[in-house]
Amino acid sequence: MADVNPPGTTADAWRYAVLGNPIAHSRSPFIHEAFARQCGLPIRYERVLSPLDGFETTVRAFAADGGRGVNVTVPFKFQALGLAARRSARAQLAGAANILKLDEPDGWLADNTDGVGLVRDIERGAGVPLVGRRVLLLGAGGAAAGALGPLIAAGPAQVVLANRTRPNAESIARSHAAWADRHRVALAVSGFDDAGKAFDIVVNATSSSLAGAAVPVPARVLGPGALALDMMYGAAAEPFLRWAQAAGASARDGLGMLVEQAAEAFLVFRGVLPEATPVLAALRGQLAAEAASAAVAPET
Ligand code: ATR
Repeated sequence: MADVNPPGTTADAWRYAVLGNPIAHSRSPFIHEAFARQCGLPIRYERVLSPLDGFETTVRAFAADGGRGVNVTVPFKFQALGLAARRSARAQLAGAANILKLDEPDGWLADNTDGVGLVRDIERGAGVPLVGRRVLLLGAGGAAAGALGPLIAAGPAQVVLANRTRPNAESIARSHAAWADRHRVALAVSGFDDAGKAFDIVVNATSSSLAGAAVPVPARVLGPGALALDMMYGAAAEPFLRWAQAAGASARDGLGMLVEQAAEAFLVFRGVLPEATPVLAALRGQLAAEAASAAVAPET
């Protein structure tokens, strides 16, 4: 049943937060406040910096203070799964949670909306259906693990999981083997050099860009008109996006996925799925304005 604000309640009755370390950069308050306005469901949304060794204490304090749910970001997504009384099937499959719903009568619920956010951004945001397509997923860390289950459920013909350290990819492939069988998706593992060629969709879930490098995969992995999506955005996504554009692919950053995973989280928290498109446009506008003002800021 969809939650609604009973008459007389205020945003203070609906407290949420994003928890991470670092957290100052998080766009979650902007996104969730925009959803709340769109849906007419007031919320109070905060950024909370959790000490690296104090995630559980931080969540408990927020819950005791009336917090109803948290979005969880790096590096706490694995811990978040372990804290919950119940886990959604998609969080279980991912082995990580990006949200904890704290106002459940039978204990905290861990869920993971990252993969659904990615799939929606590919299909609705970029307009590329996944059914029957060949997908190359680069990376085998937490970001890739969160995406793989929903990607498989979207019904591509094949998903190849390519990673620098092959055993890490093999481990994720093993945990998703039954899921892939059930959806009749061919799931394979490779290194970067032997990933194959001409994929329809290439998703970068590695953190290689953070080191300022494009992912070391040959351009032949991109089929004609392929979609190449980096889960990161801003400067971190640029090396991959430049690499993809130079090879003639359609390049997309991770902002759409960020907004879509938040929309799905809002659905879990409040029972209403907001529309991501206007919020994504507003967020892009805000980032562009920040970049422009940084470019003209006087040196100090
Ligand atoms: P996240 O939560 O962002 O997924 P992670 O769990 O640390 O972070 O995973 C990082 C991923 O990026 C891994 O797949 C990692 O490859 P390894 O499994 O070989 O460590 C990948 N990665 C990090 N730096 C990389 C680089 N310079 N080149 C290629 N892959 C890189």
